[in-house]
Amino acid sequence: MEELKLIMDGKRLDGRGFDELRPIKIEVGVLKRADGSCYLEMGRNKVMAAVYGPREVHPKHLADPSKAIVRYRYNMAPFSVEERKRPGPDRRSVEISKVSREALETIIMTEMFPRSAVDIFVEILQADAGSRTACLNAASVALVDAGIPMKGIVTSVAVAKVDGQIVLDPMKEEDNYGEADMPFAFVIRNGKIESIALLQMDGNMTRDEVKQGLELAKKGAMEIYQLQREAIMKKYRTEEEEE
Ligand code: CDP
Repeated sequence: MEELKLIMDGKRLDGRGFDELRPIKIEVGVLKRADGSCYLEMGRNKVMAAVYGPREVHPKHLADPSKAIVRYRYNMAPFSVEERKRPGPDRRSVEISKVSREALETIIMTEMFPRSAVDIFVEILQADAGSRTACLNAASVALVDAGIPMKGIVTSVAVAKVDGQIVLDPMKEEDNYGEADMPFAFVIRNGKIESIALLQMDGNMTRDEVKQGLELAKKGAMEIYQLQREAIMKKYRTEEEEE
């Protein structure tokens, strides 16, 4: 079989350059019953985030007298992937939920809400690689929409090694046939990247490639951050005008 070429004449399969994100669309406050919500598309990923809280903890024994607990559920719809995904949690979604929760816990001011819970649900309607990053971006915006006090915003993007080249925001074909994949989430505070809240890696990269990937991810994250900001401002500006 002929080897699949992922990069030709300096362009990727979808025509992007190495340092380009997929198109992003963000809508804030789309669900009436949630305290905060966000619908987000990142390339062919389509995800919906809903935030509830701070609210009473059920079951009660999980309550922490010193701070709010944060719960995060990453869930793929059975129709979101090519081969039907069996409904319910699996190892992969439990792991993604855990690392995503840990990333968001770093920015939520949980100490302000003892004995309560902040629940974040993210449903993937369509997946196309980088779904955990799309979910984190949506969850972060939904948290802002819910009015949860936060120290910053989390912005997430992956980089990959494809045909020996480090590229930003890999899509499905690059994720499947590439040599490595490295998702990041950053805490952005006062318009600046302050820390790394999530870093995973699948495959192998050299030390230099990791450095190059980090710089590329930072650049991508700043672009996504601007779009998150714009989406939030758009909703609240319109609401103010209507009042
Ligand atoms: O989505 P993300 O890159 O965060 O996670 P992954 O485990 O690297 O999965 C990459 C992609 O594989 C997903 O975005 C889906 O498009 C696909 N996938 C799938 O087709 N079936 C699954 N059960 C899980 C993932």
